[in-house]
Amino acid sequence: MKDLYYDVVIAGCGVAGLYTALHLPPDKKILMLSKEDLAGCDSMLAQGGICVLRDEEDYDAYFEDTMRAGHYENRRESVEIMIRSSRGVIDHLLALGVRFEKRADGALSYTREGAHSRPRICFHKDITGREITLTLLAHVQKLPNVTILEYTSMTDLLAERGSCAGILARTRDGGILQIHAEDTVMATGGIGGLYERSTNYPLLTGDGCRIAQKHGVALEHMDYVQIHPTCLYSTKPGRSFLISESARGEGAVLLNHRGERFVDELLPRDVVTEAIHEQMRLEGCDYEYLSFEKVPAETILGHFPNIREKCLEEGYDILREPVPIVPAQHYFMGGIHVDSGSRTTMPHLYAVGETSCNGVHGKNRLASNSLLESLVFAKRAAAQIEETGEKKIRSAVGGPSGKEIA
Ligand code: SIN
Repeated sequence: MKDLYYDVVIAGCGVAGLYTALHLPPDKKILMLSKEDLAGCDSMLAQGGICVLRDEEDYDAYFEDTMRAGHYENRRESVEIMIRSSRGVIDHLLALGVRFEKRADGALSYTREGAHSRPRICFHKDITGREITLTLLAHVQKLPNVTILEYTSMTDLLAERGSCAGILARTRDGGILQIHAEDTVMATGGIGGLYERSTNYPLLTGDGCRIAQKHGVALEHMDYVQIHPTCLYSTKPGRSFLISESARGEGAVLLNHRGERFVDELLPRDVVTEAIHEQMRLEGCDYEYLSFEKVPAETILGHFPNIREKCLEEGYDILREPVPIVPAQHYFMGGIHVDSGSRTTMPHLYAVGETSCNGVHGKNRLASNSLLESLVFAKRAAAQIEETGEKKIRSAVGGPSGKEIA
């Protein structure tokens, strides 16, 4: 067993973990862990995009769309925080170099997905998650105070008198690390690896939730699991390939085996999924179809090049023919209960991203709210860690405020 000492340890290198690291003060010594290689996080796979509040007139509609998709089980305070913070996050991502699609006049282009009453989704082709994750990673890798260990998985928490004092982790060669840290952030992603058919990487097995539960940390809505309606049907084993909901936002339609539409494709995901399952049951089939016939060829080639490529590999050209689709597990709305500062019920333990539940998504997530929610609440976790650290220093030196100490 090897002992390591850091100010903050972050388990997980998806956008939530990276954005937390990027916002922590530069004097904090930070260790980040990636369960496999850095490419093995679900943030990389997000296709559709990231929502933004386009203008003040859109606030009520965006709020209502998020709540309606979530069956009004969302925490209203969290939804408000996310929407109000969205413009700042998008501006920051642009400043960091994220190449969101723009119009000829230089303004952002917006696409649309199910249950959105208007287009408000920023995107980079059909690989928005990859674009954001790689940009954040490049910035984090330049920080001298951050160390990243790949192929190192969290196996337990270190608990001292009811507080989190770091984590235990296993390295690729089986070595055990005892990582002591003032603050610990779980950014361990979703649970798709536990499902036979999921869009997630198989390595995502809900480790954060399992370990948190072992220590009596509160969890929330562990049964709120989202099934994405349109994954490419395949009999091959392995991860299901997503066909972004933005394809339907741009005009792709669902067809049954008789070539008939059977649902409004832009209803919330859970409703569309249910309609597909019902159609499969009625027809006694393992899949239905998605047709790109109404999507202009230049949109397919410019916006969905990777989806086209992947479908071609499977023998379907979306420019010419419908592709077979089937719903698959995609996202987890429940998780480790956190407050609006991403604090869990255990002191010095934070959770961000899909493994956390701050209540933004309610019972069913609105499309393209996940990257945004992850980034907004990761930044808040970093702010909370900084503030808690300052308070501790103030009480140690007996001064009433940080400013007076400075
Ligand atoms: C998609 O592009 O359909 C997935 C995006 C998301 O999960 O919000």
